[in-house]
Formats: sequence, C-alpha cells, structure tokens
Amino acid sequence: MNMFDTIFSRKSVRKYYQERIDWEILEDILNFADNLPRLNKDINVEYKLVSNIERKQGFSGPFSIKAPYYICLCSEKGEDYLLNAGYLMQQLSLYIESLGLGSCFLGLANPGKELKDSMKYDYVIALAFGKAKEPVYRDSFYAKRLPEKELVVYKEEVSSDIRKLLEAARLAPSSFNNQPWRFVVYSNRIHIFAKKNTLIKKVMDKTKMIDMGIMLANLMIAAEELWVDVKLAKSDSIKSKSLQNNEYLLTVLID
Ligand SMILES: Cc1cc2nc3c(=O)[nH]c(=O)nc-3n(C[C@H](O)[C@H](O)[C@H](O)COP(=O)(O)O)c2cc1C
Repeated sequence: MNMFDTIFSRKSVRKYYQERIDWEILEDILNFADNLPRLNKDINVEYKLVSNIERKQGFSGPFSIKAPYYICLCSEKGEDYLLNAGYLMQQLSLYIESLGLGSCFLGLANPGKELKDSMKYDYVIALAFGKAKEPVYRDSFYAKRLPEKELVVYKEEVSSDIRKLLEAARLAPSSFNNQPWRFVVYSNRIHIFAKKNTLIKKVMDKTKMIDMGIMLANLMIAAEELWVDVKLAKSDSIKSKSLQNNEYLLTVLID
C-alpha cells in the first residue's frame, strides 16, 4: 500500500508485541525520515529512534503507550516549527503504517531525562510504533471525523481532485481527535484556518499546530498522488482580519 492509500485506511494502534523489528526495516524508516522535505528549510530537526525492548527507556505520562519502539522528533525553534514537526511526523507515520506496522502519536507523554538530555534540539513529539496486536487498517467510513459540511465552505465549484485533497485532510489524526482545521475553498485556492481554542484549552495550542501540520501532510501527499500542482502561501490581507472563532494559517494555491 502506498502512503496515499494509507491515509484512507490507517488508524492509531495502541497495543503492540514487544518484539524486535529487523534492523534493515528500522534503517529504512530512518533513511526515509532523513530525506523528508521540510516546510521550513531553515529549521533543523533530528530524529531519535528509541528501542524499548531490552530496557524500558521510553515515555511516561497519562496517555503513554507501551510500544517496542519510539521515534522522537527534536527541532530547533523558529517560525512554524510545530507545523513542520507535524508535517514531518505524519509522513513518517504513514510510511510506517504503509509497511504494515502499527503507530500512534504520543502527544502528552514525556521522554525520560536521560533520553531528553541526549537530544540535540528541543523535544517536540514522538511516535510509538511496532508490530501491532490489533488491526493496523480500517475503512475510512469508520474513522470518527467531523462531516465535511462542518469543516469546508465551498465558495466555488471545484474538481473531484480538490475534493479528494480535502477528504485526505479531513481524515488526518489529531490530538484527542480535536480536528482543528477549517477550509474556505475556491476553484484555485484553499484557505486554511485553525479553530481557536477556548481559554481552558489554551494549553493545547502547541499540539494544535502539530495537528495542523499533520493535516497538511495528508493534503500534500494527496496533491502529489493526483498530480495537482500546489504551492503554499500566506495572505497578509486574510491574516490581518480578526476572526472570532478561527485563526488564519495559510493558503494552498492550486495551478
Ligand atoms: C499530535 C497527536 C498526539 C496524540 N497523542 C496521543 C496520546 O498521547 N495517546 C494516545 O493514546 N493517542 C494519542 N493520539 C492519537 C489520537 O487520539 C487519534 O489520532 C485520534 O483519536 C483519531 O483516531 P485515529 O488515529 O485512530 O483515526 C495523538 C494524535 C495526535 C495527532
């Protein structure tokens, strides 16, 4: 299965066999990660593969998941670094899932001190992964997601390919399944907004930007698969508008 097909069939996996994966496969995953295009090329990142099999050196926290492996993303801080982190890790997650392995984002769990100290940049987010004890795939019909009509406003008629890009974006995983993304769509551009968090949920602003990057990865993978030429841009005029429930993120320009 390729990464595009995986978007429509993956699900989070939380139960794993504590079993080794062949080194060639791990090496392949790391190579894939190292060659991923970044959204912001000025921001350096580092991936850290952690084996949790011989020695527990993983994560703790209320939503932690026991898995044989974790891959952590550490990043320099800078413009859109969280968006970039989500963008990279979703591509990695889809790649891992396309190999038939299970994976799940770990948003709130924390790496131990020893692990954190060994990181070159700031720890941002991790993926748990390994051989799954439960199905890795499910039909997208069963994915719990908001219906398109709550997320997308169509201002003009659009092609079936653009609808497919939006469907790929809608199916993206998000922390606590928050699905913060909203879209205003014209035939040649998609304006993307993030739902504002209430005051109580302000602590979740960090993961919200990671979620937005995850969604963007799905959208861009779909664009590549369907040969839709897209560019990302920011519109100063939309940015300057003050909106009550949403904040403007960026625009996908379609050729
Ligand atoms: C940034 C992020 C952080 C997440 N953190 C956790 C976590 O700490 N523990 C967990 O069990 N699931 C976590 N998840 C998984 C989500 O709960 C899951 O993606 C969402 O409920 C949708 O379900 P699905 O992935 O099976 O489609 C996280 C997902 C994302 C995108």
